[in-house]
Order: sequence, then C-alpha cells, then structure tokens
Amino acid sequence: FQHPRLVVLGNRFIAGLAVDEVSQTLARLRRQGFAFTLDLLGEAIVSEPEADAYLQSYLDLIQGLAPVVNAWPENFQLDCDHRGPIPRVNVSVKLSAIHPRYETGKDATCVPELIDRTLQLAVAALEHGIGLTIDAEEAERLEMSLDIIEALARAPELKGWDGLGMAIQAYQRRAPAVIAWADALGRETGRKLTVRLVKGAYWDSEIKRGQERGLPDYPVFTRKAATDVSYLACARAMLDAPGIYPAFATHNGLTVATILQWAGERRDFEFQRLHGMGGGLYERLMAEKGVAARVYAPVGGYRDLLAYLVRRLLENGANTSFVHQIADESISDEELLADPVSIVEKAGFQPHSRIANPMDLYAPERRNSAGLDLTDRAVLDGLVAEMAKTWAVKQTAAPLIGGKAVTGAGKPVTDPADHDRVVGEVVEASVADVSRAIGLAAAAQHAWAATPVVERAAVLDRMAELMERDRVRLMALCVREAGKTIPDALGEVREAVDFCRYYAARARETFLPLTLPGPTGETNELTLTGRGVFGCVSPWNFPLAIFLGQVSAALVAGNAVVAKPAPQTPLIAYAAVQLLLEAGVPADVIALVPGGPEVGQALTADPRVMGVCFTGSTATARRIARTLLDDETRPLVPLIAETGGLNAMIVDSTALPEQVVNDVIISAFQSAGQRCSALRLLCVQEDIADKVLEMLGGAMAELVIGDPARPD
Ligand code: FAD
Ligand code: 2OP
Repeated sequence: FQHPRLVVLGNRFIAGLAVDEVSQTLARLRRQGFAFTLDLLGEAIVSEPEADAYLQSYLDLIQGLAPVVNAWPENFQLDCDHRGPIPRVNVSVKLSAIHPRYETGKDATCVPELIDRTLQLAVAALEHGIGLTIDAEEAERLEMSLDIIEALARAPELKGWDGLGMAIQAYQRRAPAVIAWADALGRETGRKLTVRLVKGAYWDSEIKRGQERGLPDYPVFTRKAATDVSYLACARAMLDAPGIYPAFATHNGLTVATILQWAGERRDFEFQRLHGMGGGLYERLMAEKGVAARVYAPVGGYRDLLAYLVRRLLENGANTSFVHQIADESISDEELLADPVSIVEKAGFQPHSRIANPMDLYAPERRNSAGLDLTDRAVLDGLVAEMAKTWAVKQTAAPLIGGKAVTGAGKPVTDPADHDRVVGEVVEASVADVSRAIGLAAAAQHAWAATPVVERAAVLDRMAELMERDRVRLMALCVREAGKTIPDALGEVREAVDFCRYYAARARETFLPLTLPGPTGETNELTLTGRGVFGCVSPWNFPLAIFLGQVSAALVAGNAVVAKPAPQTPLIAYAAVQLLLEAGVPADVIALVPGGPEVGQALTADPRVMGVCFTGSTATARRIARTLLDDETRPLVPLIAETGGLNAMIVDSTALPEQVVNDVIISAFQSAGQRCSALRLLCVQEDIADKVLEMLGGAMAELVIGDPARPD
C-alpha cells in the first residue's frame, strides 16, 4: 500500500492520513472559506471487531475535532440566510463501515444495531456542535438506511437538532420519492433535515448487480442526462421543501449554474464538493456569488483508500463525466453545456440502447432467468409466506413411467436441516420398473429424434416458462428437501431455467444440417442425431439445476431419458419431470426412477442404455465406467461424468483483504459448501496471513447456522 502511484493518487483525494494531520488541511480549507465534512475511509467491513474499531474512531474523531474547531470561534458556523446557523464541521459516515452484516435478510438485527450505533455518533455530534451525515451506499440498502435515519430523526435525545443529515442519490429512480419522504420527516420532527443531493457513486456496480440478479429493471437511470435531469428535479423539490436544508453536492458547472439561477437571491442552502475536485469552481462561486460551500474530506491510510479511490477513478475517467469532459479539448462548450432535459427528450425518454435491460442480457439468443429482489423486504416476506403454502402440504414422489406414477409403499423424505421434519414421501423404483422404463424409452426414441429440432427446443423453452411460473413451489422444495437457503434456492431455480434456454439455443444452432464442401456431383451433409436412451444420474446438492441440466441437454439432442435423482431429493425431481411432461416431452421419452444404488446399477448396466450422464463422486463415476465396459457384448457408449475436486484459492499481498474474505465466505459457505467448485484450500501469503485470518475468523463468526428457511 505504499506504491508510489497509489501514494500520488491517494494524496490527491485524501485530506490526511490521521486526524491530527488533518487539522492543517482543515485550517487551510477554513481560510479559503470552506466548511467541511470528514469521512473516515473504510466501508463494507466484515467482522464485529472492525465495526467496533470504526465506531470508536468516529467517536474519537468527533471528540478530537471539537477542540480544533473551538479554536476558531469566529467562523464556527456557516452563515446561511433565512435559517439558523449550520455547523461548519460535519462528519460523514457509511453504515457499512460500522456493521458487518448490513443486509436486508439480516435487517431484524442489523437495523436496530445500526440505530444504536448511529445514535451514539449523533449524540456525540450534538454535544460537540458538529453535524452528522449518513452517506448513501448501494441501492439495495436504501430502505434499511431510511429506517435508521427515521429512528434518529425521532429519537428524543436528538429532538429539534438540525445537525442530522443524509445523502440522496439522484441516479436512483426512487430519488424524488426519497426527497418527499425526507421533507415529510423533517417537518414532522420539527427540524430541517440536511439533505446532501448527490448523483451517485456506485453506478457501474448497480448496473452489473441488476444484470446478475435478473431484475425486471435497474434501480438507476441508464443515461447520464437522465441522472442530470433527475438531479435538477430533486434540487428544485428541495428548494421548495420546508423540512429540508439543501446541500447540493456536484462538480458539474452546468448543474451548479442551473440551481443558482433557480435560487435567485436565495442563499439558504450550501454546495458540496469532494476533496481534490471542484476547488477552483467553488472558490470563485464563494467569492463572486456569496454561496456557502463544504468539502468532503476523506481521512485515513492508503490501505483503506482503495474502494473510494476506485470510485473516483471510474467516475472521473468516464467519458460522460463533467470533469472529464471539461478537460477534453475535443468537446465544444455547446456539447459540454447541452441541456440535459432536451437530451432526454430527444432520446424519447428511453433507456440507453447499449445498456440492455437485465432480462435481455443474453439477447437475442435467450432471455435471462428472472430473479427476485430479495433485498426488498416486502418481496422477501411475500416469498416466505408463499413458500409456506408448499411446506404445509405433504409432498409425494414416485417412479414416473410412460407418464404415469407407479404406486407402492412410500418412504419418508426428511429435511436435511431437521431430520425429524418429514417433507414428504417417495415410492422408489424397483429393478423391474427401471427395465420397463428403458423399454418404453427405447421404443419412443426414434420418433422423438425425428421430431424437428426446433420443436424439441420449443419444449425446453416451455419448460423454462413453467419453472418460472412455479418458481416459488420449486424454491420451497429446494429449501426443505435439499436444505437450501432462500437465495441459494432462487439461484438453483434460475440456473435450471437458464439450462433449458441455453440448451435449446445450442440445439437450434448445432443441429442444423451442415453442408460440407466436396467434388462436383456429390452432396455431403453432416447432421447430428440422438443416440438412443440416456441414463441420467444426478446428485442432491443441486437437485433441480444439475438434474435438469443433464436431462434437458440429453432430451433436446433427440435422446430419450431415464433419470435417477439422488435418493435424498426425489420430490424436486418428481416436480421437475411432471413439468417436463406438461411442457410437451412425450410420456415415454422421459422416465423418472427414484431410488438408491441398486436403481442406478440397474439403469447403467442395461445394454439398451446408449449413454450415461453422471454427476457425483469420482468413486461412483469409476464404478459406472466399469459397469459400462463389463458387458463384452455391449457397444461402447459415452459416459459424461462431472466429479468432485479440491478447489484452492491463492491470495497474495496485493489483494484487498475485505474482498478476499468476502470471496472466501461465498466460495466456502454458500450452498452449504456443497458446490463442486467450493473453496476447500486457502493459501495466503505469509506477510498478510495473520490479518486475513483474523478478519476471516471475524466474518465466520457472523455466519448463522440454523433453519435455512429463515431469511437471516
Ligand atoms: P457529473 O459528471 O455531472 O455526473 C456524474 C454522475 O452521472 C455519476 O453519478 C454517474 O454515476 C452518473 N452517470 C454516468 N453515466 C451514467 C449513465 N449512463 N446513466 C446514468 N447515470 C450516469 N455518492 C454516493 O453515492 N453517496 C454519497 O454519500 C456521496 N457523497 C458525496 C459527497 C459529496 C460532497 C460529493 C461532492 C459527492 C458525493 N458522492 C456521493 C459522489 C457523487 O455521487 C459523485 O461526486 C457524483 O457522482 C459526481 O457527480 P457530478 O455532478 O460531480 O458529475
Ligand atoms: C464515496 O464514497 C463520496 O460517498 C462517496 O464515493
């Protein structure tokens, strides 16, 4: 963290390495006429000890600033017309720096804990005559942050205190609603809530996360001009909001000019800029226009700078950025000062054509699998209530042969997270059932292979639709029968949906006859066709996605399939095969034979089976391979086996420890660590090992072991 280039960049954007050093910077800013807000660098921490340390540092900072500030009483307050004095001194805090699990699923604990922690900061700020601003972070945290801010605004200890503030991001489509909310809260609690209006610093990650999560739309605008228009609309609303003291944070000259024009003679608001940016602009505006301006001054070492620095570099490096454009001589003044409203109008108020909607991520080939916004409390609560309907019903599974369920004595299926909880009942297949299923499948396969590939692909597309229709029921089964957490269950269904669409697309592409070049008078054509009956043997760790990945690929290629799910997860497989039948797979072409190793042995040993797909242990894969070869009279058939492994992560000292710890936790513990690619072996460079292991220990201490159906 002492690399010369990082030091050069860091020095541009940080106000100081430690609080005592900062007082010089502050004295300079004060002489220039600026107020300031100090931010202790650090965010997205992973363990409770770090949260404690940050909270303590903030308390120390507030206490440490008081004497510095008291030494210059002459301009302790910012002079704003028409309202009481505003503290020239302010502290900005990111909630993700003072709680390791600031997540919607954990809101029952993290929100009250964060209220308690921010209240400590606010009370200290109030006592020392300093303001406090809650920074805005990722869109998925917005609602929790509002709960916390509302609790502070209503806290009796802070009654009437004007030092409370929050940042609102104009790039979020909800921004105007949040402004209205802040105004109502300020009025109701008899104060002016300081609202720092920003455009937003997390745009790239919001876009990426929106795509990954398969949401119907982004939480942010996709055109820069739309963000600018939103900012102006919010600014106008703030100027008219009696419950808000406006703070306009921007480095964009046009944005500033527009606000100043609207404000006319009014000066009951302030502008804000980031340390290292916009200095010249505001020095002149303070001198010539008599506006108040504040600097956001980050304090901390290079180690904690990275996330902040990367945001500044991404933002300032973007060709849409005002500070980038003003330095670009190829951009004319007309372009630089183009009215954002007319740009948005000219674009017909449409989203950016080159930023595909999350659902069109793979367009035109296939639709993205639909996600659910689990960071929206209402969605999460509704989902749990809906899943409970499936949980209330005893589920059943049985062999499905020729489209009909085989009857027989049932065996209980229990919840792996609670062996006393019976989820349903399964009738397992006999060896005779397996033989009958293979016979029907072999007889039906030719007609299926002769069906045009587009029709077979259409069946898989319909299957994807049906799984999205029944998504909640499938997720509920994944949670209870396979012990999946809610996010993992959603991931499971989405992967299964995408497998179907993906294999449909591959089949449409690869199964078209290919004309080969050849001598005149000869026609050579290459076509692919199904091999016959495939035996598909799948594991319990991905009981829907891997089960269907095997089955759908085999089916769309023109094979008939006899599938044996893991003995632990027949209910999900049964639900899946029923949906395949509904989607239009001919009844004899797909069969389900639940059961243990004897069923698997009967399936793979049958010479009418022309190929095997297997996912599971290496030992079982070897056994299947031997079975396929044992029978001297049997044709050589393909075995497609995906087996276990031992995955390692190698971490050197250039890695950001917080990122390493997050990745380790995801890789090692998501899907209960039962992913074939789960992290099993972590190698850390000695120089950083102690620190990384300590953070990792802290992050692991935050994991909750319990009923996976619980959102937390
Ligand atoms: P401009 O160049 O006019 O605008 C850049 C903005 O446009 C960025 O927000 C960018 O994301 C957005 N943008 C770029 N391309 C697109 C596109 N295709 N579609 C939609 N939008 C696009 N940010 C936070 O998130 N939380 C905070 O708490 C916070 N605190 C701040 C405090 C201060 C004092 C200041 C000055 C800024 C703060 N910011 C915060 C950062 C702020 O979001 C950035 O400074 C801002 O993004 C830069 O805006 P601008 O008006 O200076 O620049
Ligand atoms: C950021 O950290 C300034 O809060 C803003 O990017």
